[in-house]
Amino acid sequence: MENQKEEQKQKQLYRASINTILENQHSGGAFPASPNYSTYQYAWLRDGSFTAYAMLKTGNTESCKRFLLWVNKTINRYSGKIDELESKIKKGSKTENTDFLPARYTLEGFEIEDDWPAFQIDGYGSWLWCTGEYIRATRDYKLLQSVTPGIQNTIRYLIITWQIPCYDCWEEYGERIHTSTLACVYGGLSAAAELAENEDFAKAGKTAYKVRRFILSHIRDGGFTKFINDDGIDASLLWLAVPFKVVAVDSPAMVKTVSVIEEKLLVKGGGVKRYPEDTFYGGGQWILLTCWLAWYYLMAGRGEEAYRLLAWVEEQQDENGCLPEQVPGLTANTSWMEEWRKRWGPVATPLLWSHAMYLVVLQEMKERDRGGVMSRWGKHRQQK
Ligand code: BGC
Repeated sequence: MENQKEEQKQKQLYRASINTILENQHSGGAFPASPNYSTYQYAWLRDGSFTAYAMLKTGNTESCKRFLLWVNKTINRYSGKIDELESKIKKGSKTENTDFLPARYTLEGFEIEDDWPAFQIDGYGSWLWCTGEYIRATRDYKLLQSVTPGIQNTIRYLIITWQIPCYDCWEEYGERIHTSTLACVYGGLSAAAELAENEDFAKAGKTAYKVRRFILSHIRDGGFTKFINDDGIDASLLWLAVPFKVVAVDSPAMVKTVSVIEEKLLVKGGGVKRYPEDTFYGGGQWILLTCWLAWYYLMAGRGEEAYRLLAWVEEQQDENGCLPEQVPGLTANTSWMEEWRKRWGPVATPLLWSHAMYLVVLQEMKERDRGGVMSRWGKHRQQK
C-alpha cells in the first residue's frame, strides 16, 4: 500500500514535470525560469540548458532542439558585442558589466536593460555541453550545421572571458573566480571540441585543457573550493564530476569535496543547501541540488542513497505536482526568509530547473535499474 502511494507520487511528479516544462516553453524555444514568479519570467541560459537536457533525456527531443536553435539565434544577434569586447580587451581598455553577454534574456531573445548582475559565463558553457549531448544522442548533423555560428561565437566569447572574475551560478560574488563556473566552461568547450574538426573547434579543446589545469592547480586541502584561491564549500561543486567531467566521480579531490558537501550542506533526512552562508529565503534546501547529489551518487554506484534523496524530492511536490526552487527549513539564516518574502513574494514554484533535474535523475535511475533494484530500495527505505 505504502509502496503504491510512493509509486503514485513518482508518476504524478514525472507527468507534472514534463507538462510544466513543455507547456511553459515559449513559441520561440526559450524556457522561463518560473512562470509564476515575476523576477523569474526570463530565460536564463543556465536553467534552460539543463531543462533542454531533461527534455532530451526523456525523449522530448524536439523541445530540446527548439531551445538550442533559440540560443543560437540569440547569441548570434549579439555577436557584435563579442567583437567589441575582444577589441577592448586587446587594447587593455576598461570593461563594464554591460560589455559582456548576459546570463538571461527575454523569452524573445533580447537583452534586458536593468541592473541585474548579468555577467555570468557558466550558462554559455552549459549550452555548448547540452548541444554536444543532443548531437551525440540524435546524430542530427543538420541541427549542428544550423547552430555552428552560435557555437563559434560562444567559443570565442569563453576564450576571452574565462579568466575574468564574474558572477557565479547563484548570481553573486562578481569579484571572484568560481570553480563551478569554470567546470561549466570546461564541460562546454570540451564538448564543442568533439563536435567538428575545424580551427575554431580545436581552439575550444586547447582552452578546455587550460581551464582544467587551472582548476586542478587550485585544489586546497585535497578538495575543491567555492572560490579560486579561497576556502569555502558550495554544492555546485558537484558539477565538476557530473556532468562536466573535470574529474572522475571517484577521484580523491571529488570524494573529499562530496564529503564536505555531505557534512556541511546535506540536511539529515532532507535535501541539500547551496552554501553555509546563504541567506536567500533563509538558505533552504534546494530541489535541484538535492537531485544533483542523487545524480552524483548514481554515477558513483551509490544507488540507494540516490533513491532516498529522490524520494525526499517527491515528497516536496504540492498538490498539483509542482516543485519549488527551495524548501525553507531551520538554517542559521532563517530570519532572512521573511525579508525575501516581503521583497519578492513566496518561493518560486514551479521552478523549471527543479523539475528538469528531477527528470534527469529519475530517467538515469530507470536506465540503470537492472533487476528492479529501485523497488527493493523502496521497500528497504520503508523499513527504516
Ligand atoms: C538562482 C540562479 C537561477 C535563477 C533563475 C536565481 O535565484 O540563483 O541560479 O539561474 O534564480 O532560476
